[in-house]
Amino acid sequence: MMTVQSIYDLGVQLAINSDPRGKAVVRAELLRYKADYEKLPASEKKYFDKEYFTNPYSDSRILYAPNTSKPVKRMFAGIDADEAELLLADRLGGIDLVMGHHPEGIALADLPAVMGVQVEIMHQAGVPVHVAENLLDTRIAEVSRGVLPINDHKAVDIARLLKIAYMSTHTFTDNLVATFFADLIKKHKSSLYYVGDVMDLLMTIPEYQIAKQQKSGPCLYVGGLRRRCGRIAATEMTGGTNGAKEMFEQLSRAGVGTVIGMHMREEHRKIAEQHHMNVVIAGHISSDSIGMNILLDEIEKRGVEVIPVGGLIRVKRFKGKAKK
Ligand SMILES: [Fe+2]
Ligand SMILES: [Fe+2]
Repeated sequence: MMTVQSIYDLGVQLAINSDPRGKAVVRAELLRYKADYEKLPASEKKYFDKEYFTNPYSDSRILYAPNTSKPVKRMFAGIDADEAELLLADRLGGIDLVMGHHPEGIALADLPAVMGVQVEIMHQAGVPVHVAENLLDTRIAEVSRGVLPINDHKAVDIARLLKIAYMSTHTFTDNLVATFFADLIKKHKSSLYYVGDVMDLLMTIPEYQIAKQQKSGPCLYVGGLRRRCGRIAATEMTGGTNGAKEMFEQLSRAGVGTVIGMHMREEHRKIAEQHHMNVVIAGHISSDSIGMNILLDEIEKRGVEVIPVGGLIRVKRFKGKAKK
């Protein structure tokens, strides 16, 4: 029997296991948070989010729970789960938890803190670590200013008044989809010659087949299907939000020919084009769904009924019956 807390703990564990930086680096980071906390004066300690001692992902948190040890028999899971989904959960009744991928509340306010993971992704793609870090710092500052005016606690207020447990699992599942892609590219590397081959590979994934039926399937964003794909990097999958636009020049110089992403701003697209990249946009909601589905399979296997809402394209990858 899973509880709100054990679902959250499972999310932390899976995210750490699939973190591009590796488990040892993440564990060291958790210790650093603890050391930072110890050094704070008492007046500042009360503002420190102690979840950082065990969960390094600032955008993935329990936002509200009347009782974290309450068993969860049935839950909502959405890509977006906010006021509407919380009200629907109350109206339908019998929903013990509402989980949304895109962050709300403190998970949204602190989203920029998770972007550091992108340094490692760029580094693995061949960009020197100091260059990646420097470019990303500017972008993190920009995103930090961007989240300032948001009324991020609005949906959390609804959860509190309805007494429904509410959780954001953003980087928890974006790490899962990033690893999914890294493994997929590695496995099929020898058969990927043209950009078109990359598109064909994406279309073997059920979430993208469903998205295509919904007219939001993978698309070629920059480059040509008959161009050679070169080295492929799925750089735009995890790490909070889109990275620095200057990164495309660095990736191109580092020998990356094709980038796979979930979504891309127009400004970024133009820069990628200037630097001769091919860009395949796999799809936002469908790609987020892959990551959520990997976590949700683990939750369903443990006997929880998952009801997809908020745009989630639910595809189950496990065989056999869920344990009740
Ligand atoms: Fe995501
Ligand atoms: Fe997303």
